[in-house]
Amino acid sequence: MSADVLYNCLEQAIPIVREAGKLLHDRVRSSSIQEKGKTDFVTAVDTAVQSFIRDRLQKQDSSIQFMGEEQDNSSVEPDQLTWILDPVDGTTNLIHGFRHSAISLALAEGEQVLFGVVYDPFSEELFAAQRGHGAFCNHKPIRVSDVQTLSDSLISVGTNPGSREQADAAFRRMRAIYDCCHDIRRIGAASIELCYVASGRLDGYLEHGLRPWDFAAGKLILEEAGGKLTDFCGSAPFLYADRSDIMASNGHIHADLRFLI
Ligand code: IPD
Ligand code: CA
Repeated sequence: MSADVLYNCLEQAIPIVREAGKLLHDRVRSSSIQEKGKTDFVTAVDTAVQSFIRDRLQKQDSSIQFMGEEQDNSSVEPDQLTWILDPVDGTTNLIHGFRHSAISLALAEGEQVLFGVVYDPFSEELFAAQRGHGAFCNHKPIRVSDVQTLSDSLISVGTNPGSREQADAAFRRMRAIYDCCHDIRRIGAASIELCYVASGRLDGYLEHGLRPWDFAAGKLILEEAGGKLTDFCGSAPFLYADRSDIMASNGHIHADLRFLI
């Protein structure tokens, strides 16, 4: 895809995401809840946002395949150009009125994310990045923090309520990190946590068992802001893996964080 075609594609995608963001304020739809698992929910907002964005993107260019959390993705071919959407990242937050949820949309070609946007309609912050062109929040360039040591850091640790069988290990990691840093945080929306590392509000973030749509857009935004994202072993995660253990940081503390867990 040429840089010009990509740029046009993005110029059109951002207003679609912004428009869809209005749906996250609909408290009637966010109270219409179905259980996908014991602690894994989908609301009428998730499905409405996904339909809205998928229809609008496909009207724009139906040759780009679409992967979304709330659909069957078994026919998605990982080497093709693909939109990867989490219509609501932070569904549990949305259900409880805990105002931290986002729409996360990435455009990927094979393993490479070309474009990512994460829009939190509650804070009205739109994070975006195009590969090779830097990362922005509401059009202003963002950069990771300059914190050099774990002992000076603020780290977010995800608990992934959908993978509770790993809770003991997750809480052990949390305790080990807590003992070495200023404090820990838990926002409850992986895409926002990645963007907060990208913008220097957090110095690191980790969570086990994330799905492609949880981290695809945030990965590019973080990397374009100077940060680093790997799995817990320090390797690049496979974008289309069913689940990935993700560790993100400002780069400076990455090795220490990895060593710690
Ligand atoms: C979830 C959120 C949450 C994280 C889970 C994700 P969802 O996404 O990002 O913070 O702990 O692992 O699945 O279900 O709200 O889209
Ligand atoms: Ca979701």
